[in-house]
Amino acid sequence: MNYKNQHVFLCGFMGSGKSTLGRQLAKRMNRQFIDLDKFIENKVQKSIADLFKEQGEKTFRLLETRYLFEVIKIKQPAVVALGGGTACTALNLDIVKQNSIMVYISVSANELFERLRKSNTKRPLIKGLSPEALNLYIHRTLQEREPFYKQAHLQLNGSGLNDSQLFDAVRHYAP
Ligand code: S3P
Repeated sequence: MNYKNQHVFLCGFMGSGKSTLGRQLAKRMNRQFIDLDKFIENKVQKSIADLFKEQGEKTFRLLETRYLFEVIKIKQPAVVALGGGTACTALNLDIVKQNSIMVYISVSANELFERLRKSNTKRPLIKGLSPEALNLYIHRTLQEREPFYKQAHLQLNGSGLNDSQLFDAVRHYAP
């Protein structure tokens, strides 16, 4: 297996840096960058926030899976930032693992709390939560999701991680 003909998919919790790192990594690798949330927004011509508000999380999850499959079919290897919940079903996890080098950007619950507390968030799942409720949500949800995230081919500590280190890890995994 050679990283050159593989998609690189980044998974991890909201606020773990998937989009920022993904964009930088794509540039470094000379590839297209796809943010799955943005991809969905373009397809449905609606923001994720409006999608949640108008059609609920269930519909969002169906669309997320549908467009994940579309992204996977793209021939040209890309760098893809998944949404925080994308990898957390058996179906999605399997398809991602089988069709990419999957990387988990791991950030501790306490650091996620510090990051997400500061960002004036449009994220529908945590919008309007008090600091206490946000902290609880992060700890609980991360615990539920980590068994999925941890099945990625690579797990990197996202605290202080840069795109050059990320690229090295990908190359090392599939030279
Ligand atoms: C979600 C994370 C969001 C977005 C949606 C649901 C989640 O993506 O897909 O709001 O379930 O954690 P980011 O992780 O890019 O914020």
